[in-house]
Amino acid sequence: MKFFIDTANLAEIEAAHKLRLVDGVTTNPTLCSQVGCTDLTALYDHIRRICELVQAPVSAEVLSTASADMIAEAHRLAKIHEQVVVKIPMTPDGLQATRVLAREGIKVNQTLIFQPLQALLAAKAGAAYVSPFIGRLDDISQTGMELVEQIMTIFNNYGIETEVIVASVRHPLHVLQAALAGADIATIPYKALMQLINHPLTDIGLEKFLKDWQRS
Ligand code: E4P
Repeated sequence: MKFFIDTANLAEIEAAHKLRLVDGVTTNPTLCSQVGCTDLTALYDHIRRICELVQAPVSAEVLSTASADMIAEAHRLAKIHEQVVVKIPMTPDGLQATRVLAREGIKVNQTLIFQPLQALLAAKAGAAYVSPFIGRLDDISQTGMELVEQIMTIFNNYGIETEVIVASVRHPLHVLQAALAGADIATIPYKALMQLINHPLTDIGLEKFLKDWQRS
């Protein structure tokens, strides 16, 4: 399973990249606004800087809602850097835009997927990635991971090559469940990514080994 980092924070991306934990980056308008991108020039510049940091796919989301505008925006985003993957929301207009962009060879990450048939439709439209949002389903008392399992079953049934990015990950258990479900990718916030490395028994065990060694 590939690990993407779900952040627009350059320091977090750099720190995770140094540990070789970053197979890709996903951003969204909320994450970009949190790091001070207040206009399109700042946003595009920021996306370019992320691409230069990681040499891996970087998802950048359109802000338009009409398909023609999404397509025009996707062209501008794709020109920023060859690593850019355009994030398109799962709407009727979004689906139309995905179909056109996929035919043009632009990679699309269909985002805001909350039920399995949305993922199937996005794949049929040519999306390179689909992003089911797990944590937001858990938030409303639905088991988010069931969505991932259903998408994996459908994609395996038909040999669909669209990659499944488990998104809206909140904690390490989501990452474990994503791996058990056979998802292609989990996109993980920095804090949860670091939590994957640590275990209190590792720390206690290491401390004891070193103390015992000093005593001998
Ligand atoms: C995915 O690409 C999104 O950026 C992200 O995972 C959304 O997560 P949230 O529900 O924590 O906002």
